[in-house]
Amino acid sequence: MIEGIIVLVAALLVLIVLHVTEDALQVLRERTGSAQGARMTWGKRITWALLALVAAHFFVPKGLLEPAPPPPPPLPQAALFNADSLWSGADTSRLASLNDSLEAVIRYGRELIANTSHYLGQQGTVMRNTNGLNCQNCHLDAGTRPWGNNYGAVWSTYPKFRARSGGLESVAKRVNDCVERSLNGTALDTNGREMRSILTYMEWLGTGIARDEKPKGTGIVDMAYLDRAADPEKGAAVYLTKCSSCHGKDGQGMLKADGRTQQYPPLWGPLSYNHGAGLYRLSRFAGYVKNNMPQGATYASPQLTDEEAWDVAAFVNSQPRPGRDLSADWPDISKKPVDHPFGPYADPFTASQHKLGPFGPIAAHYKLNGTKSSQTGKP
Ligand code: HEC
Ligand code: HEC
Repeated sequence: MIEGIIVLVAALLVLIVLHVTEDALQVLRERTGSAQGARMTWGKRITWALLALVAAHFFVPKGLLEPAPPPPPPLPQAALFNADSLWSGADTSRLASLNDSLEAVIRYGRELIANTSHYLGQQGTVMRNTNGLNCQNCHLDAGTRPWGNNYGAVWSTYPKFRARSGGLESVAKRVNDCVERSLNGTALDTNGREMRSILTYMEWLGTGIARDEKPKGTGIVDMAYLDRAADPEKGAAVYLTKCSSCHGKDGQGMLKADGRTQQYPPLWGPLSYNHGAGLYRLSRFAGYVKNNMPQGATYASPQLTDEEAWDVAAFVNSQPRPGRDLSADWPDISKKPVDHPFGPYADPFTASQHKLGPFGPIAAHYKLNGTKSSQTGKP
């Protein structure tokens, strides 16, 4: 069809060119006074046109008029990291190569992580079962930022045994741990649309990561212990100069203009994480803020010294916040992390030392006694 039109247009063009040159020749002859020649007949013109077209045919590059080849099939979802680089999440542009319904579920899961408050917060549109924090407040960039408490090792390492509950935990159980502790809320229905979407998102994030593999840069960094106890008073000074501009002098953060969701999340008080949350452990808080706070800091350009990170953790975690019944946690008390601030303990150290440190001697005690425990790592 298009070929036909192109040939027709080309033929017309040749005819017009012939016509115009003939006219020009005629004028030239008149000017120079030479005899007028006879005009070409239409038959001759068309013959010339056809000859020109046949000649042109040999110069047209092959394949010009053939349909474009189909685009290559989408790349398979692959891990975007190698043994030396930090994991930084899967490439969302690859979502387009999944089928539409799977893509929609993953996108909703990601959305729930990023804007939890909008769906599940105090004025949530789906449910009102959480304090208004977003998962993303602590799991930065929807759980993909290197050393930003990301989810890179979730799908590859769960279900796993965790000493906190003393049992085998599924990803759903771990998600609900954060819902009940970090978001001080009530658990999501494990079979509900929201939980299923979050799990599908995490499974997708884990694509390309082998079972039990923990890519570099996942979770929160384990910082070296200070030789001294962390100091809430020094931390108060750090807080005032480096944190209060966003999180508020009173630690209550700041709402967005919509009045419903937070621009800056609270760090203590009724809408913050409770006593049972991961961030209430000093090592988790210090490791998180060291690489991520004040906003703009990254693992590559941290803005706090190690001492500042530990001290500000001590200050913030000495402020009032919601409690939680922790009596079922760590059924084997010898497995409590060194910085779990609630007894009873299987060691002679005080609750205050378990809260603020120095943690080195506690860790050494357990190593001396040969107790296998997770004092330095994850709970
Ligand atoms: C107030 C901060 C905070 C919020 C909000 C939060 N979490 Fe967490 N989350 C943590 C901390 C701290 C850990 C433990 C990290 C560690 O021990 O290294 C954690 C761990 C996890 C883990 C296990 C990660 C691993 O590799 O073992 C999952 C899964 C998780 N959170 C999901 C969620 C989901 C889903 C939400 C929202 C419903 C959420 N979290 C909200 C702080 C938070
Ligand atoms: C420029 C503004 C800004 C400053 C300054 C700042 N933060 Fe944040 N902080 C944020 C924002 C925004 C988030 C949520 C991040 C997100 O959702 O992507 C956050 C999240 C947090 C969280 C996890 C969420 C929660 O509410 O528990 C902690 C803990 C935290 N900040 C501590 C600190 C500390 C400690 C300092 C000072 C050393 C600090 N921040 C300085 C803006 C700031």
